[in-house]
Amino acid sequence: MRVLGIESSCDETAVALLEDGKTVLSDRVASQDSIHAPYSGVVPELASRQHLRLLPSLFHAVLEDSGILQKQIGLVAVTRGPGLAGCLLAGVSFAKGLAYGLGLPLLGINHIEAHIFSCCFSGKVDYPALALVVSGGHTILVLLPCPGSYRLLGQTRDDAVGEAYDKVATMLGLPFPGGPAMESRAKMARGEGVLGAPFPRPLIGSGDLDFSFSGLKTAVLYRLKSHAGETLGEEGVNEIARGFQEAVIEVLLSKTLTAAKCHGVRCVLLAGGVARNESLRARLGERVSAAGVRLIVPEKKYCSDNAVMVAALAARKYADGERGDATLDIEPGLRLCS
Ligand code: KG4
Ligand code: ZN
Repeated sequence: MRVLGIESSCDETAVALLEDGKTVLSDRVASQDSIHAPYSGVVPELASRQHLRLLPSLFHAVLEDSGILQKQIGLVAVTRGPGLAGCLLAGVSFAKGLAYGLGLPLLGINHIEAHIFSCCFSGKVDYPALALVVSGGHTILVLLPCPGSYRLLGQTRDDAVGEAYDKVATMLGLPFPGGPAMESRAKMARGEGVLGAPFPRPLIGSGDLDFSFSGLKTAVLYRLKSHAGETLGEEGVNEIARGFQEAVIEVLLSKTLTAAKCHGVRCVLLAGGVARNESLRARLGERVSAAGVRLIVPEKKYCSDNAVMVAALAARKYADGERGDATLDIEPGLRLCS
């Protein structure tokens, strides 16, 4: 069974072809970073137009990479939510046209579930498991009592972690998307300094598993204001990046470990674009293994938005008997669980 996956929920246009649920025949991702960089954030209208432009050529590139003919595809899978409406519509319309034209079955996929499934694709998951999904649009802690079953334990009350990284990066004059730039500047910091003095750890002692990152963003703004008129310099930027990242990672670690212990999980799954962060990967790995739990983090390329995770999850669902139909529609506010 060959599954064609399509992902267009935000600013990455991605198409992939997967065989037998695990062999990647082709994996194409076209980033739109350069289009959105001048605006320091994703512009929905530009993103959806770019998806429309890129999807047909990526599809043909995937066929060419894999040497597979259109008629050899067995299933079309597409992200139907959550995400930006126009972006989702571009992917779902393309997938529907393709499935109808080729007479193929079609499955709609939840983007968050696909991020979590990228961990199942990367290693053997023992249940119960706990997933921490950290991306530009989401920050959630989800319990998986068994495969395919989800219970929401906590989520951000305001900004997603990636969103906070991106906004703080803009304040510091770093390029969009801010996460990678902030991570490398944090690594370069020589010490804490006045500018990098500890930032608040939002909701760390709240007694629940929710997150909040918008106040941390404001704390960075006030730190910058209190040093207005001084030259920040390269080291000043590095120190702030490091101070911000320390606060973020400490909160993520604290809540994840609390949830893992409370629910006696056997695996922790780390997914989403922010899971590319090496410091987060390493430190969560240390803390989790000290608690006798296994951490599964996908390869970096499968942390950010991609279509392999969409195809892989669809292959599993199809094998389990799930079927879609022509009424498939986008759902920008789609939830994974409650
Ligand atoms: O999962 P993703 O590709 O798209 C969404 O579904 O949102 O995540 C993108 C987010 C961006 O906010 C980006 O700044 C962040 O992931 N990110 C990082 C790193 N690489 C990407 N954040 C921190 N450290 C990184 N190395
Ligand atoms: Zn994502």
